[in-house]
Amino acid sequence: MSNPKRKRKNRHSSEEGVEEIPRLEKTEPLQLRYYGDPVLRKRAAPVPEITYEEVKLAEDMLNTLYYTEVGIGLAATQVGILKRFLIVDIREEKEDETGLFMLFNPEILNSEGEDIAEEGCLSIPDLRADVKRPEKIIVRAVDLRNQSVEFEADELLARVIQHEIDHLNGTLFIDRISGLKRQLLSDELKKIQKADRPT
Ligand code: NI
Repeated sequence: MSNPKRKRKNRHSSEEGVEEIPRLEKTEPLQLRYYGDPVLRKRAAPVPEITYEEVKLAEDMLNTLYYTEVGIGLAATQVGILKRFLIVDIREEKEDETGLFMLFNPEILNSEGEDIAEEGCLSIPDLRADVKRPEKIIVRAVDLRNQSVEFEADELLARVIQHEIDHLNGTLFIDRISGLKRQLLSDELKKIQKADRPT
């Protein structure tokens, strides 16, 4: 998920246009998949065990998320990997260090309340819409150390986790907005689908 309120720092270009692109890490960001890519509609498979491969995926996805500058959550599906894994980083929004989550096989055990807020998605650039979701959820998942974790999430954290779990099930946030409103967005969606992007 992208934070509609966060501004890109524009650190990838300068007015002269000759500035070298600074890398946040030594590795290249992974290729994001965009609206129209069939992989975004597939259901991701559970991860039986956290191995080196999963740790590397976590690192690469975190690097990719930072690279976007507006990203606050990313599902493995969005980089074309159909594993039930998601990351959330809302440390900037929360202004503390507890907002980083890397969750394998996440499940929502219970949800309550209702909340409407604007969402954006890294796979559907520049499109935003209000989405209604449960306000509070209980989440169970496996962390990077192969430990089972269970916790309560509300507000922005609950929203991002639900948005990313949707990705693991092949669902996009635009599926959760009403038919009429989605019709109004259909021209924008077509443009996004046809956009040329570097691969
Ligand atoms: Ni998304």
